[in-house]
Amino acid sequence: MRTPAISLTNLIGLEGVSRSDIQTLLDTGFYFRDVLDRPIKKVPILTGINVVNLFFESSTRTRISFELAEKRLSAEVVNFSAAASSLSKGEGLKDTVRNIHAMKMDAVVMRHPAPGAALQLSRFVDAVVINAGDGTHEHPTQGLLDMMSIREKFGRIKGLKIGIIGDIAHSRVALSNIFGLNTMGAEVTVCGPGHLIPPFIEELGVTVNGDVDAVLEWADAVNVLRIQRERMGVGIIPSVREYRNRFGLTVERLARHKKEIVILHPGPMNRGVEIDSDVADGDQAIILDQVLNGVAVRMSVLFHLLGARELLEEA
Ligand code: CP
Repeated sequence: MRTPAISLTNLIGLEGVSRSDIQTLLDTGFYFRDVLDRPIKKVPILTGINVVNLFFESSTRTRISFELAEKRLSAEVVNFSAAASSLSKGEGLKDTVRNIHAMKMDAVVMRHPAPGAALQLSRFVDAVVINAGDGTHEHPTQGLLDMMSIREKFGRIKGLKIGIIGDIAHSRVALSNIFGLNTMGAEVTVCGPGHLIPPFIEELGVTVNGDVDAVLEWADAVNVLRIQRERMGVGIIPSVREYRNRFGLTVERLARHKKEIVILHPGPMNRGVEIDSDVADGDQAIILDQVLNGVAVRMSVLFHLLGARELLEEA
């Protein structure tokens, strides 16, 4: 397989990433999906490449998925936990990163609570920087894996109608989905409590609809976002029961819509709040496909950004 080059040097977000770059990242993601289905899932593409995973915020899926992707490509992997580092002694991000870079890292995968942290990091280091989620800004590999899962299910992205339901205002997943899906020619509608929809979001090329049943009737697929429990009980989400009644993907609500609808969720899920267990575990949900595609598309991102593309033919 011969793959075209992409124009990116880092992956900070999907905003401004071209259709052709996204297409290439997804195509290569599907190539690696096949590799993951082989009995031996490891390829020597990134042998001798050093990658550090810097997680300043908790993560289950993304951290494990990146580490697995790096190891499947035979990279050398170092994991860095903010809690166990000298950050607790007052060291700033810049010095921490410079020290890590002095250890000759080729790539840094970073999750950080501050929007813009990944971009700032890319200015400090000449290693490849991959954003694993920066505050409420972007989560580009989540956007890519969501698009890969949608393409796997429908065979295309262009022309599809995708609803994004939940707390749009605080969601980096929503933003990366919006940028990526718009670029790939999908129609996007966002849905959630009015105060959790950012003002002027229509300027990003999406439609706003506060009626979840109308969105379900319209959409081919919906991406259901986590309602962040830390925001409940502080006036932002008045009650779990009210949220579930108005916006939750309940069994009863789905049964009212006599149509096939594909359901995504980036995780972690609040079962019984934004999504019922029977829905999350049902036939319409592709949540575990998203997890597998996450490994494959992160392998694709690492492969393209670390410049080893000529080796793909030999793998
Ligand atoms: N989807 C996602 O980012 O999950 P984690 O927070 O567990 O990484």
